[in-house]
Amino acid sequence: MDAKTEELRAAHDILAELYADRLASALDHMPAERAVLDLFCDLTLAADLGTNVGDVGCGTGRLEPYLAARGLSPRGIDLSPEMIRVAHRDHPGFDFNVADLRELPFGDASLAGVVCWYSLMYLAPSDRPAAFSELARVVKPGGYLVTAFKAGDGEVRRGGRSTGLSIEFDVYWLSPGEMERRVIDADFAVVFWGGRPAEGQEGSPQGYLLAQRS
Ligand SMILES: C[S@@+](CC[C@H](N)C(=O)[O-])C[C@H]1O[C@@H](n2cnc3c(N)ncnc32)[C@H](O)[C@@H]1O
Repeated sequence: MDAKTEELRAAHDILAELYADRLASALDHMPAERAVLDLFCDLTLAADLGTNVGDVGCGTGRLEPYLAARGLSPRGIDLSPEMIRVAHRDHPGFDFNVADLRELPFGDASLAGVVCWYSLMYLAPSDRPAAFSELARVVKPGGYLVTAFKAGDGEVRRGGRSTGLSIEFDVYWLSPGEMERRVIDADFAVVFWGGRPAEGQEGSPQGYLLAQRS
């Protein structure tokens, strides 16, 4: 594992309990996020490609009950073993595994969709084409990808400092235009894009993109 990935993984191991504590019910207060996820769920079910979806970079698994309540069968993967340990603890009954999104443990065209909720914004630009190709590999033609990300100028920042936990890692405020180009290059068609200003403790605006596999 390269040094940047090791740094990211170690930081998220330390963040796992904080995430479990702070994010468990965050969606309850985020109508825009629920609306984008609901659109993903509705379109994925309407595509009639089955209910299996990947939650890629699932963190502590907070989205699993939400997706399951809307008829999907999510399987979570995350780089951080500690995130996965907490996900198993807090959401027993769901399938969670340690994996890197650049090498997904899902078969070709095996999923009706993938959710990448704030998990693609750590990818260095050089890793992005292969990562989007990997997402495209696992989604059935006609299936969907939905992603949320910190939206901005595309520049890298150092994340984690504000937690006071002595952690740091690279995080990119992704350009919505670049995200559109990346999914199109990976053989998806954009269905919805949107964004909203930063709220509360968020340091950046948030971007959303929903795309269908060609
Ligand atoms: C901001 S958290 C979001 C977690 C979850 N999606 C949520 O919304 O609660 C980002 C997660 O992406 C994971 N992650 C980052 N890079 C990854 C990679 N290359 N492969 C798999 N997971 C990754 C991190 O370990 C972390 O748990």
